[in-house]
Amino acid sequence: MAVLGTDGYIGWPMAMHLSRLGYDVVAVDNLARRGWDVEGGTYSLVPIPTMEQRVERWRELTGNTIIWHHLDLCDHKALEAFMAEFVPEAVVHLAEQRSAPFSMIDRDHAVRTQVNNIVGNLNLMFAIHEHAPDCHLVKLGTMGEYGCPNIDIEEGYLTIEHNGRTDTLPYPKVPHSFYHLSKVADSQNIHFGTRIWGMRATDLNQGVVYGNQTEDTMLHPDLMTRLDFDSIWGTALNRFCVQAAAGLPITVYGQGGQTRGYLDIRDTMACITLAIEHPADRGECRVFNQFTEQFSLNELADMVLRVRKARGWETTIDHVANPRVEAESHYYNAKHSALVDLGLEPHLLDESMLGSMIELVEQYVHQLDPVLLQQPSVNWRTGGNEVWDTYANQSQVEAATDSVDALVASQARPRERQLQQD
Ligand SMILES: NC(=O)c1ccc[n+]([C@@H]2O[C@H](COP(=O)([O-])OP(=O)(O)OC[C@H]3O[C@@H](n4cnc5c(N)ncnc54)[C@H](O)[C@@H]3O)[C@@H](O)[C@H]2O)c1
Repeated sequence: MAVLGTDGYIGWPMAMHLSRLGYDVVAVDNLARRGWDVEGGTYSLVPIPTMEQRVERWRELTGNTIIWHHLDLCDHKALEAFMAEFVPEAVVHLAEQRSAPFSMIDRDHAVRTQVNNIVGNLNLMFAIHEHAPDCHLVKLGTMGEYGCPNIDIEEGYLTIEHNGRTDTLPYPKVPHSFYHLSKVADSQNIHFGTRIWGMRATDLNQGVVYGNQTEDTMLHPDLMTRLDFDSIWGTALNRFCVQAAAGLPITVYGQGGQTRGYLDIRDTMACITLAIEHPADRGECRVFNQFTEQFSLNELADMVLRVRKARGWETTIDHVANPRVEAESHYYNAKHSALVDLGLEPHLLDESMLGSMIELVEQYVHQLDPVLLQQPSVNWRTGGNEVWDTYANQSQVEAATDSVDALVASQARPRERQLQQD
């Protein structure tokens, strides 16, 4: 079993979860995310150790081995060698640049995002086809691929009647950022791969994930997963909890009617495991919408406010100018029954869950940079703003992440430079 993107927020708990279930897990990452943090002056509020320390702590506490493999998906030769050596029965592909704001900073970040994600995914498809053709590709996409259409969102496909004829086709997608567009391209490429090569694939259109505590991350501080709070990497509910814990206003972009699907990180573990345990057939491209509930930003902010109030704290909500280009009040109704049909039992968002998220954050709140938390640093229309410039310029690490040229060059030859972990 290979988990690609294991050094990330979802990847690390996912690797531990599968290892606990008895899978032989190979953990793959190129540590790009640590480099992108250095580049933009961002950091995980919960300190995270190196991958070497993580797998060693896991082995010490559970007796289970996770094999750590430093690999860039954009290095196709290394990826092919990896696939030929391990021939995994399934690959969980989480290894992408996953921030919409990061992809909207400027041309360079848009191109880097799309090259990293689309080329990495394409390399993976070819490596599977050539060296492990029976391998099940479990790919993390996003609900953001669909955008916010004024009709119900189906799970991947839509049956259309047009001029008296009917067909079932991939659902039309109108995403909101260059990052989300890279995911749409991945989905199209995977759909094509299943048609031409008979690949097995499950494309998981995931909602926004919240929470940091799983059975495994709570075993030891060294096993915690990252907690992003800044405006580039922090997702909505996680950020709101950090703001509440810090006693700062909750910042809602615009009117706050933006509605999306959400899920608890424990359900992410469960959904991916269900996809692995019920593999797609050869030639099948399954699409599951992976979320459990939908909320507007206002609903989430109000919930956090109520939890704080019940504990005797006053919290305020600020509606700030929306840096994104998106509808702030819209229809949203997305289907999400396929994973429930496979056996998912969701952890629904309630006040005790929110309370425990905020309590966790309170332990680390002294390490918080309030500017990174409160001020958007990227505007969809104008790109990186003065906050981005200030924090990016603080970085003394020249080219901590790859430039476009270096990324493209890495297609032809193995990477020479490896990022150092702090
Ligand atoms: N976090 C969410 O709320 C959310 C929601 C929907 C979809 N997703 C998707 O889930 C996946 C994981 O998200 P996350 O929040 O854990 O992100 P993350 O940024 O925390 O982790 C991604 C990991 O992938 C690695 N990576 C990136 N490019 C790579 C490459 N070319 N080769 C090898 N490793 C590479 C990074 O170093 C990082 O450790 C992503 O594909 C993301 O788009 C996440």
